[in-house]
Amino acid sequence: MNSSSEVLIIGGGAIGLATAIELAGQGVQVTVLSRNFQEAALQAAAGMLAPQAEGLAPGPMLDLCLQSRRLYFDWTTRLTTLTGLETGYWPCGILAPRYAQDLGSMQQGQGREWCDRTSIHHHQPDLSAEVIGGWWFPEDAQVNNQQLAQVLQQAAHQLGVNLQEGVTVESFSRQGNCLDQVNTNLGPWQAQTYLLCTGAWAGELLPIPVIPRKGQLFAVQAKGSPDHLQPLRHVLFGSEVYIVPRQTGRIVVGATNEQVGFAPHNTPAGLQSLFTAAMRLYPPLQEFQLESYWWGFRPTTPDELPILGESPYDNLLLATGHYRNGILLAPVTAQLITQLIVTGESELPLTPFSWQRFLDGRLVGK
Ligand code: GLY
Repeated sequence: MNSSSEVLIIGGGAIGLATAIELAGQGVQVTVLSRNFQEAALQAAAGMLAPQAEGLAPGPMLDLCLQSRRLYFDWTTRLTTLTGLETGYWPCGILAPRYAQDLGSMQQGQGREWCDRTSIHHHQPDLSAEVIGGWWFPEDAQVNNQQLAQVLQQAAHQLGVNLQEGVTVESFSRQGNCLDQVNTNLGPWQAQTYLLCTGAWAGELLPIPVIPRKGQLFAVQAKGSPDHLQPLRHVLFGSEVYIVPRQTGRIVVGATNEQVGFAPHNTPAGLQSLFTAAMRLYPPLQEFQLESYWWGFRPTTPDELPILGESPYDNLLLATGHYRNGILLAPVTAQLITQLIVTGESELPLTPFSWQRFLDGRLVGK
């Protein structure tokens, strides 16, 4: 039997690590089991913090995302103060250029402004001549997800979280309505409370409807003089592709959205669709140096909302299924789940995100 903790977190992605840090900061003894830190969606993402550009409908999910976006500056500042490492948080705003054929409503709304052709090309020079206008979301932002991954691991380590990599949880053992232990390739582990944060793999351990949606991405290095390294001023969120500039000159382009199970690898078709869409939206990109390409798996639920809070077992909590918004939702998820563990209740109601919404079968397998 491996040593026990008060809380055992299964999964070392954005949600698992952020929650481990929040709990450890409150004096809770935490262990994180990860099969491989590198396979988390956190590592594969582009790091957009984009509740408004993503076009989430008004409701509990948008509210949760907006709350998390509000937390980001303080959260990343605290992580940097603790570790001395930068997260690349950049409140650069997101521009959503539109072509004539995908022009929808141009009604102004809270947190977004319509830019006409002149104004959008002024906002961002060298966009495609096909762009006839677009939305400006000044409060949407980005974080460098790969830097964030390092910072989260370092912060967890500094706060005394027991980080265990190379551990695959294979099953749960139950006693009555409680988990008694988790069984892994390295033997059993026990804790008072368990938290499942295994992202796209959550459905392998419990009968909850979380499935993978593969995303392929690539990165280029922008050409330019050292004092004008990054020609893009904002994230571009097009109708077919998004383009995320880093302050270092790197540009991340994503992403496909494929229902192909856990089929690994980049594919020529996937990359071609991204290349074509990215070069159409921002033609200078065709001359930039291709740096790398990769893929990851988003954890998706039938209604595309996360599963947060209670589970079928009294001492197991769930924080998974964050789909396209896991990095955005990490701070608020960590805060709410920590409140639930420490005080028994969370300051925002988690009912809209309960696993029980799938019980009547209507939403399963959409
Ligand atoms: N958050 C963007 C994506 O999942 O592709």
